[in-house]
Amino acid sequence: MTATEPAPVLAPTPRLAARARAVGGSPVRDILAVTARPEVINFAGGLPAPELFDADGIAEAYRAVFAETPARALQYSTTEGEPALRAALAARTAARGLPTTPDDLLVTTGSQQALSLLATALLEPGDTVLVESPCYLAALQAFSLAGARVVAVPGDERGLDPDALDALVARERPALLYTVPTFQNPTGRTLPAARRAAVAEVAARRGLWIVEDDPYGELRYEGERVPWIAAHPGAADRTVLLGSLSKVMAPGLRLGWLRAPAELRRACAVAKQAADLHTPTVNQLAAARYLADHDLDAHVRRVAAVYGARRDAMLAGLPAALPDGSTWTRPEGGMFLWARLPEPYDTTALLPGVVRHDVAYVPGAPFHAADPDRATMRLCFVTQTPDEIAEGLRRLGTGLRDHGRS
Ligand SMILES: Cc1ncc(COP(=O)(O)O)c(C=O)c1O
Repeated sequence: MTATEPAPVLAPTPRLAARARAVGGSPVRDILAVTARPEVINFAGGLPAPELFDADGIAEAYRAVFAETPARALQYSTTEGEPALRAALAARTAARGLPTTPDDLLVTTGSQQALSLLATALLEPGDTVLVESPCYLAALQAFSLAGARVVAVPGDERGLDPDALDALVARERPALLYTVPTFQNPTGRTLPAARRAAVAEVAARRGLWIVEDDPYGELRYEGERVPWIAAHPGAADRTVLLGSLSKVMAPGLRLGWLRAPAELRRACAVAKQAADLHTPTVNQLAAARYLADHDLDAHVRRVAAVYGARRDAMLAGLPAALPDGSTWTRPEGGMFLWARLPEPYDTTALLPGVVRHDVAYVPGAPFHAADPDRATMRLCFVTQTPDEIAEGLRRLGTGLRDHGRS
Protein backbone atom coordinates (compact mmCIF):
# COMPACT_ATOMS: atom_id res chain seq x y z
CA MET A 1 0.00 0.00 0.00
CA THR A 2 1.38 3.48 -0.89
CA ALA A 3 0.72 6.73 0.95
CA THR A 4 -1.83 7.75 -1.72
CA GLU A 5 -3.92 4.56 -1.57
CA PRO A 6 -6.91 4.69 0.79
CA ALA A 7 -6.68 2.47 3.86
CA PRO A 8 -8.65 -0.76 3.32
CA VAL A 9 -11.97 -0.92 5.10
CA LEU A 10 -11.63 -3.63 7.72
CA ALA A 11 -14.49 -5.86 8.75
CA PRO A 12 -15.07 -6.03 12.51
CA THR A 13 -12.84 -8.44 14.43
CA PRO A 14 -14.34 -11.93 14.18
CA ARG A 15 -16.21 -12.89 17.32
CA LEU A 16 -15.35 -15.47 19.98
CA ALA A 17 -17.55 -18.49 20.62
CA ALA A 18 -20.45 -17.82 22.97
CA ARG A 19 -18.91 -19.97 25.72
CA ALA A 20 -15.70 -17.90 25.61
CA ARG A 21 -17.63 -14.62 25.59
CA ALA A 22 -19.66 -15.76 28.58
CA VAL A 23 -16.57 -16.53 30.66
CA GLY A 24 -15.18 -12.97 30.53
CA GLY A 25 -12.69 -11.45 32.97
CA SER A 26 -12.53 -11.59 36.73
CA PRO A 27 -12.19 -8.48 38.92
CA VAL A 28 -10.86 -10.62 41.78
CA ARG A 29 -8.15 -11.98 39.51
CA ASP A 30 -7.12 -8.42 38.65
CA ILE A 31 -6.84 -7.45 42.32
CA LEU A 32 -4.95 -10.62 43.18
CA ALA A 33 -2.45 -9.92 40.39
CA VAL A 34 -1.15 -7.22 42.75
CA THR A 35 -0.27 -9.88 45.30
CA ALA A 36 2.72 -10.96 43.22
CA ARG A 37 4.57 -8.08 44.98
CA PRO A 38 7.17 -9.81 47.21
CA GLU A 39 6.15 -7.84 50.29
CA VAL A 40 2.61 -9.25 50.16
CA ILE A 41 1.90 -12.20 52.48
CA ASN A 42 -0.28 -14.14 50.12
CA PHE A 43 -2.88 -16.41 51.69
CA ALA A 44 -4.71 -16.35 48.35
CA GLY A 45 -2.37 -18.41 46.21
CA GLY A 46 -3.00 -22.06 46.94
CA LEU A 47 0.67 -22.82 46.27
CA PRO A 48 2.43 -25.79 47.87
CA ALA A 49 5.47 -24.66 49.91
CA PRO A 50 8.33 -24.56 47.38
CA GLU A 51 11.09 -25.11 49.97
CA LEU A 52 9.59 -28.54 50.64
CA PHE A 53 9.78 -29.77 47.05
CA ASP A 54 12.29 -32.62 46.87
CA ALA A 55 14.14 -30.78 44.11
CA ASP A 56 17.29 -32.89 44.49
CA GLY A 57 15.38 -36.17 44.34
CA ILE A 58 13.33 -35.05 41.35
CA ALA A 59 16.44 -33.75 39.53
CA GLU A 60 18.14 -37.09 40.19
CA ALA A 61 15.16 -38.90 38.65
CA TYR A 62 15.32 -36.70 35.52
CA ARG A 63 19.09 -37.29 35.25
CA ALA A 64 18.60 -41.04 35.47
CA VAL A 65 15.92 -40.97 32.79
CA PHE A 66 18.07 -38.89 30.44
CA ALA A 67 21.12 -41.08 31.10
CA GLU A 68 19.33 -44.39 30.63
CA THR A 69 16.44 -43.86 28.20
CA PRO A 70 16.94 -40.50 26.49
CA ALA A 71 15.31 -41.48 23.22
CA ARG A 72 12.21 -42.74 24.97
CA ALA A 73 12.03 -39.74 27.30
CA LEU A 74 12.07 -37.30 24.39
CA GLN A 75 9.77 -39.27 22.11
CA TYR A 76 5.97 -39.18 21.66
CA SER A 77 4.19 -41.54 24.00
CA THR A 78 0.80 -43.24 24.23
CA THR A 79 -2.24 -41.18 25.16
CA GLU A 80 -3.05 -43.45 28.10
CA GLY A 81 0.32 -42.76 29.71
CA GLU A 82 3.68 -44.38 30.33
CA PRO A 83 3.24 -47.97 31.60
CA ALA A 84 5.79 -47.53 34.41
CA LEU A 85 3.92 -44.52 35.83
CA ARG A 86 0.51 -46.12 35.44
CA ALA A 87 1.79 -49.22 37.25
CA ALA A 88 3.21 -47.16 40.12
CA LEU A 89 0.02 -45.10 40.48
CA ALA A 90 -2.19 -48.19 40.30
CA ALA A 91 -0.12 -49.83 43.05
CA ARG A 92 -0.49 -46.73 45.26
CA THR A 93 -4.25 -46.67 44.69
CA ALA A 94 -4.62 -50.40 45.41
CA ALA A 95 -2.53 -50.03 48.57
CA ARG A 96 -5.10 -47.48 49.77
CA GLY A 97 -7.94 -49.97 49.51
CA LEU A 98 -9.19 -49.58 45.96
CA PRO A 99 -8.18 -52.50 43.72
CA THR A 100 -6.72 -50.88 40.61
CA THR A 101 -4.70 -52.11 37.62
CA PRO A 102 -2.58 -49.91 35.35
CA ASP A 103 -5.25 -50.32 32.64
CA ASP A 104 -7.83 -48.64 34.90
CA LEU A 105 -5.88 -45.38 34.75
CA LEU A 106 -5.43 -42.58 32.24
CA VAL A 107 -2.53 -40.23 32.96
CA THR A 108 -3.60 -36.60 32.62
CA THR A 109 -1.78 -33.28 32.44
CA GLY A 110 -2.65 -32.40 36.03
CA SER A 111 -6.00 -33.40 37.46
CA GLN A 112 -7.32 -30.16 35.99
CA GLN A 113 -7.12 -31.74 32.55
CA ALA A 114 -9.18 -34.66 33.82
CA LEU A 115 -11.99 -32.20 34.56
CA SER A 116 -11.94 -30.89 30.99
CA LEU A 117 -11.81 -34.40 29.53
CA LEU A 118 -14.75 -35.49 31.67
CA ALA A 119 -16.69 -32.39 30.66
CA THR A 120 -16.11 -33.33 27.01
CA ALA A 121 -16.96 -36.99 27.56
CA LEU A 122 -20.01 -36.59 29.79
CA LEU A 123 -21.70 -33.24 29.20
CA GLU A 124 -24.08 -32.02 26.52
CA PRO A 125 -24.64 -28.24 26.47
CA GLY A 126 -27.44 -27.48 28.91
CA ASP A 127 -26.82 -30.57 31.05
CA THR A 128 -26.95 -30.11 34.79
CA VAL A 129 -23.87 -30.66 36.94
CA LEU A 130 -24.22 -30.87 40.70
CA VAL A 131 -21.45 -29.39 42.82
CA GLU A 132 -20.70 -28.62 46.44
CA SER A 133 -21.34 -25.16 47.77
CA PRO A 134 -18.78 -23.61 47.75
CA CYS A 135 -16.89 -25.43 44.98
CA TYR A 136 -13.37 -25.51 43.49
CA LEU A 137 -13.28 -22.54 41.13
CA ALA A 138 -11.57 -24.09 38.13
CA ALA A 139 -14.05 -26.98 38.17
CA LEU A 140 -16.87 -24.44 37.92
CA GLN A 141 -14.99 -22.98 34.95
CA ALA A 142 -14.51 -26.33 33.22
CA PHE A 143 -18.20 -27.19 33.56
CA SER A 144 -19.36 -23.73 32.50
CA LEU A 145 -17.11 -23.82 29.43
CA ALA A 146 -18.79 -27.08 28.46
CA GLY A 147 -22.13 -25.26 28.53
CA ALA A 148 -23.38 -27.01 31.67
CA ARG A 149 -25.88 -25.62 34.12
CA VAL A 150 -24.20 -25.82 37.51
CA VAL A 151 -26.40 -26.43 40.56
CA ALA A 152 -25.16 -26.52 44.17
CA VAL A 153 -26.16 -29.35 46.49
CA PRO A 154 -27.18 -28.03 49.91
CA GLY A 155 -24.90 -29.06 52.76
CA ASP A 156 -23.60 -28.08 56.15
CA GLU A 157 -20.27 -27.77 57.93
CA ARG A 158 -19.56 -31.47 57.24
CA GLY A 159 -20.13 -31.20 53.49
CA LEU A 160 -22.91 -32.07 51.10
CA ASP A 161 -26.16 -33.51 52.42
CA PRO A 162 -26.96 -36.92 50.81
CA ASP A 163 -30.73 -36.48 51.34
CA ALA A 164 -30.63 -33.14 49.55
CA LEU A 165 -28.54 -34.80 46.84
CA ASP A 166 -31.14 -37.53 46.45
CA ALA A 167 -33.93 -34.98 46.06
CA LEU A 168 -31.91 -32.89 43.58
CA VAL A 169 -31.00 -35.91 41.46
CA ALA A 170 -34.68 -36.86 41.28
CA ARG A 171 -35.65 -33.32 40.30
CA GLU A 172 -32.78 -32.19 38.07
CA ARG A 173 -31.66 -35.43 36.37
CA PRO A 174 -28.02 -34.22 36.44
CA ALA A 175 -25.28 -35.66 34.27
CA LEU A 176 -22.82 -35.83 37.16
CA LEU A 177 -21.95 -34.86 40.70
CA TYR A 178 -18.54 -33.23 41.22
CA THR A 179 -17.14 -33.50 44.73
CA VAL A 180 -13.86 -33.03 46.60
CA PRO A 181 -14.70 -35.12 49.68
CA THR A 182 -11.36 -34.84 51.46
CA PHE A 183 -9.87 -31.51 52.63
CA GLN A 184 -12.00 -29.73 50.10
CA ASN A 185 -10.89 -26.70 48.14
CA PRO A 186 -11.98 -24.12 49.28
CA THR A 187 -13.31 -25.11 52.72
CA GLY A 188 -10.88 -27.77 54.00
CA ARG A 189 -13.91 -29.90 54.96
CA THR A 190 -13.92 -33.70 54.84
CA LEU A 191 -17.11 -35.60 54.08
CA PRO A 192 -17.68 -38.22 56.83
CA ALA A 193 -17.64 -41.93 55.94
CA ALA A 194 -21.37 -42.41 56.46
CA ARG A 195 -22.20 -39.60 54.04
CA ARG A 196 -19.82 -41.06 51.46
CA ALA A 197 -21.65 -44.37 51.70
CA ALA A 198 -24.96 -42.51 51.33
CA VAL A 199 -23.70 -40.59 48.27
CA ALA A 200 -22.58 -43.87 46.69
CA GLU A 201 -25.99 -45.35 47.45
CA VAL A 202 -27.78 -42.42 45.76
CA ALA A 203 -25.56 -42.80 42.70
CA ALA A 204 -26.21 -46.55 42.58
CA ARG A 205 -29.99 -46.20 42.97
CA ARG A 206 -30.58 -43.19 40.75
CA GLY A 207 -27.89 -43.64 38.09
CA LEU A 208 -25.45 -40.78 38.47
CA TRP A 209 -21.82 -40.23 37.56
CA ILE A 210 -19.71 -39.16 40.52
CA VAL A 211 -16.47 -37.29 39.88
CA GLU A 212 -14.44 -37.71 43.07
CA ASP A 213 -11.51 -35.30 42.96
CA ASP A 214 -8.81 -36.06 45.53
CA PRO A 215 -5.67 -33.97 45.16
CA TYR A 216 -5.30 -33.33 48.92
CA GLY A 217 -6.23 -36.63 50.62
CA GLU A 218 -2.65 -37.68 51.36
CA LEU A 219 -1.91 -34.44 53.20
CA ARG A 220 -3.49 -35.51 56.48
CA TYR A 221 -2.16 -33.99 59.72
CA GLU A 222 -4.48 -35.74 62.13
CA GLY A 223 -7.40 -38.15 62.29
CA GLU A 224 -8.05 -41.28 60.28
CA ARG A 225 -8.16 -41.68 56.53
CA VAL A 226 -11.74 -41.90 55.20
CA PRO A 227 -12.31 -44.38 52.33
CA TRP A 228 -12.97 -42.99 48.88
CA ILE A 229 -16.56 -42.88 47.59
CA ALA A 230 -15.21 -44.92 44.67
CA ALA A 231 -14.51 -47.78 47.08
CA HIS A 232 -18.16 -48.15 48.14
CA PRO A 233 -20.28 -50.97 46.73
CA GLY A 234 -22.54 -49.76 43.97
CA ALA A 235 -20.32 -46.80 43.09
CA ALA A 236 -17.57 -48.72 41.31
CA ASP A 237 -19.01 -48.57 37.79
CA ARG A 238 -20.10 -44.91 38.06
CA THR A 239 -17.37 -43.12 39.99
CA VAL A 240 -14.36 -41.43 38.44
CA LEU A 241 -11.52 -40.91 40.90
CA LEU A 242 -9.05 -38.12 40.13
CA GLY A 243 -5.55 -38.03 41.57
CA SER A 244 -2.61 -35.65 41.27
CA LEU A 245 1.08 -35.45 42.07
CA SER A 246 0.81 -31.65 42.33
CA LYS A 247 0.36 -31.40 46.08
CA VAL A 248 2.52 -34.37 47.12
CA MET A 249 5.41 -33.94 44.68
CA ALA A 250 5.33 -30.69 42.64
CA PRO A 251 2.62 -28.96 40.59
CA GLY A 252 5.05 -27.95 37.84
CA LEU A 253 5.28 -31.57 36.75
CA ARG A 254 1.63 -31.32 35.64
CA LEU A 255 0.93 -34.96 36.43
CA GLY A 256 -2.47 -36.26 37.37
CA TRP A 257 -4.60 -39.27 36.55
CA LEU A 258 -8.14 -40.50 36.35
CA ARG A 259 -9.45 -43.91 37.30
CA ALA A 260 -12.65 -44.66 35.42
CA PRO A 261 -14.73 -47.54 34.03
CA ALA A 262 -13.50 -48.71 30.62
CA GLU A 263 -16.00 -47.01 28.33
CA LEU A 264 -15.65 -43.61 29.98
CA ARG A 265 -11.87 -43.96 30.18
CA ARG A 266 -11.74 -44.65 26.44
CA ALA A 267 -13.86 -41.57 25.73
CA CYS A 268 -11.54 -39.49 27.91
CA ALA A 269 -8.52 -40.89 26.03
CA VAL A 270 -10.04 -39.75 22.72
CA ALA A 271 -10.69 -36.30 24.21
CA LYS A 272 -7.13 -36.20 25.51
CA GLN A 273 -5.76 -37.13 22.11
CA ALA A 274 -7.54 -34.10 20.70
CA ALA A 275 -6.31 -31.89 23.54
CA ASP A 276 -2.60 -32.71 23.82
CA LEU A 277 -1.90 -36.23 22.41
CA HIS A 278 -0.30 -37.20 25.71
CA THR A 279 1.21 -35.84 28.90
CA PRO A 280 4.94 -35.03 28.52
CA THR A 281 6.85 -38.31 28.36
CA VAL A 282 9.89 -37.07 30.22
CA ASN A 283 7.83 -35.91 33.20
CA GLN A 284 6.00 -39.22 33.37
CA LEU A 285 9.21 -41.24 33.24
CA ALA A 286 10.92 -39.03 35.81
CA ALA A 287 7.94 -39.37 38.16
CA ALA A 288 7.92 -43.15 37.70
CA ARG A 289 11.64 -43.22 38.41
CA TYR A 290 11.15 -41.05 41.50
CA LEU A 291 8.43 -43.36 42.77
CA ALA A 292 10.71 -46.37 42.23
CA ASP A 293 13.79 -44.85 43.88
CA HIS A 294 12.32 -42.72 46.68
CA ASP A 295 9.81 -43.16 49.44
CA LEU A 296 7.10 -40.69 48.46
CA ASP A 297 5.06 -41.57 51.53
CA ALA A 298 7.95 -40.59 53.80
CA HIS A 299 8.27 -37.30 51.91
CA VAL A 300 4.54 -36.66 52.25
CA ARG A 301 4.76 -37.33 56.00
CA ARG A 302 7.49 -34.67 56.30
CA VAL A 303 5.44 -32.19 54.27
CA ALA A 304 2.31 -32.94 56.30
CA ALA A 305 4.15 -32.33 59.58
CA VAL A 306 5.25 -28.88 58.37
CA TYR A 307 1.81 -28.04 56.96
CA GLY A 308 0.16 -29.16 60.19
CA ALA A 309 2.27 -26.67 62.16
CA ARG A 310 1.34 -23.95 59.66
CA ARG A 311 -2.35 -24.78 60.02
CA ASP A 312 -1.95 -24.49 63.79
CA ALA A 313 -0.26 -21.09 63.37
CA MET A 314 -3.19 -19.89 61.32
CA LEU A 315 -5.76 -21.27 63.75
CA ALA A 316 -3.90 -19.56 66.60
CA GLY A 317 -3.90 -16.15 64.89
CA LEU A 318 -7.43 -16.08 63.51
CA PRO A 319 -9.34 -15.14 66.71
CA ALA A 320 -7.44 -11.83 66.96
CA ALA A 321 -7.46 -11.16 63.21
CA LEU A 322 -11.12 -11.69 62.33
CA PRO A 323 -13.97 -9.61 63.73
CA ASP A 324 -16.07 -10.94 66.61
CA GLY A 325 -18.73 -13.31 65.38
CA SER A 326 -16.52 -14.81 62.66
CA THR A 327 -16.35 -18.58 62.22
CA TRP A 328 -13.88 -20.81 60.39
CA THR A 329 -13.21 -24.42 59.54
CA ARG A 330 -10.54 -26.53 61.26
CA PRO A 331 -9.26 -28.84 58.51
CA GLU A 332 -7.53 -32.10 59.43
CA GLY A 333 -5.32 -31.79 56.35
CA GLY A 334 -4.99 -30.16 52.95
CA MET A 335 -4.09 -26.55 52.30
CA PHE A 336 -7.08 -24.32 52.94
CA LEU A 337 -9.45 -23.09 55.54
CA TRP A 338 -12.63 -21.15 55.04
CA ALA A 339 -13.72 -18.25 57.18
CA ARG A 340 -17.04 -16.49 57.47
CA LEU A 341 -17.24 -12.95 58.80
CA PRO A 342 -20.41 -11.66 60.39
CA GLU A 343 -22.91 -9.80 58.18
CA PRO A 344 -22.63 -7.29 56.57
CA TYR A 345 -18.92 -7.81 55.83
CA ASP A 346 -18.31 -8.20 52.10
CA THR A 347 -14.90 -9.78 51.48
CA THR A 348 -14.88 -8.90 47.77
CA ALA A 349 -15.47 -5.21 48.50
CA LEU A 350 -12.88 -5.26 51.30
CA LEU A 351 -10.10 -6.92 49.31
CA PRO A 352 -8.55 -3.83 47.62
CA GLY A 353 -8.25 -2.06 50.98
CA VAL A 354 -6.85 -5.13 52.73
CA VAL A 355 -4.30 -5.75 49.95
CA ARG A 356 -2.91 -2.25 50.65
CA HIS A 357 -1.77 -3.74 53.98
CA ASP A 358 0.33 -6.28 52.04
CA VAL A 359 -1.77 -9.34 52.74
CA ALA A 360 -4.22 -11.19 50.50
CA TYR A 361 -7.02 -13.76 50.67
CA VAL A 362 -9.49 -15.02 48.07
CA PRO A 363 -13.04 -13.69 48.55
CA GLY A 364 -15.56 -16.50 48.87
CA ALA A 365 -18.21 -15.25 46.43
CA PRO A 366 -16.76 -16.71 43.17
CA PHE A 367 -16.62 -20.22 44.67
CA HIS A 368 -20.42 -20.34 44.71
CA ALA A 369 -22.33 -21.60 41.68
CA ALA A 370 -25.25 -19.38 42.76
CA ASP A 371 -26.23 -17.25 45.76
CA PRO A 372 -22.69 -16.14 46.63
CA ASP A 373 -21.96 -15.85 50.33
CA ARG A 374 -20.14 -12.50 50.33
CA ALA A 375 -18.99 -12.72 53.93
CA THR A 376 -16.66 -15.68 53.25
CA MET A 377 -12.98 -16.00 52.34
CA ARG A 378 -10.48 -18.76 51.54
CA LEU A 379 -7.14 -18.73 53.33
CA CYS A 380 -4.24 -20.95 52.25
CA PHE A 381 -2.04 -21.77 55.24
CA VAL A 382 0.77 -23.85 53.74
CA THR A 383 2.92 -21.41 51.74
CA GLN A 384 4.31 -19.28 54.58
CA THR A 385 6.21 -20.09 57.78
CA PRO A 386 4.36 -19.83 61.13
CA ASP A 387 6.01 -16.43 61.80
CA GLU A 388 4.94 -15.12 58.41
CA ILE A 389 1.44 -16.46 58.98
CA ALA A 390 1.27 -14.64 62.32
CA GLU A 391 2.44 -11.41 60.69
CA GLY A 392 0.02 -11.88 57.75
CA LEU A 393 -2.87 -12.32 60.16
CA ARG A 394 -1.88 -9.17 62.06
CA ARG A 395 -2.00 -7.29 58.75
CA LEU A 396 -5.32 -8.91 57.88
CA GLY A 397 -6.74 -7.85 61.23
CA THR A 398 -5.56 -4.27 60.69
CA GLY A 399 -6.88 -4.24 57.13
CA LEU A 400 -10.30 -5.51 58.15
CA ARG A 401 -10.52 -3.02 61.04
CA ASP A 402 -9.39 -0.08 58.86
CA HIS A 403 -11.73 -0.81 56.01
CA GLY A 404 -14.45 -2.08 58.27
CA ARG A 405 -17.95 -3.03 57.40
CA SER A 406 -18.61 -1.85 53.86
C1 LIG B 1 -9.87 -29.59 43.97
C2 LIG B 1 -8.81 -29.44 42.94
N1 LIG B 1 -8.87 -30.20 41.84
C3 LIG B 1 -7.94 -30.11 40.87
C4 LIG B 1 -6.89 -29.22 40.99
C5 LIG B 1 -5.91 -29.14 39.86
O1 LIG B 1 -4.69 -29.68 40.24
P1 LIG B 1 -3.59 -30.19 39.23
O2 LIG B 1 -4.08 -29.91 37.84
O3 LIG B 1 -2.37 -29.41 39.56
O4 LIG B 1 -3.45 -31.65 39.48
C6 LIG B 1 -6.78 -28.40 42.11
C7 LIG B 1 -5.70 -27.42 42.22
O5 LIG B 1 -5.65 -26.57 43.04
C8 LIG B 1 -7.79 -28.51 43.10
O6 LIG B 1 -7.77 -27.76 44.21
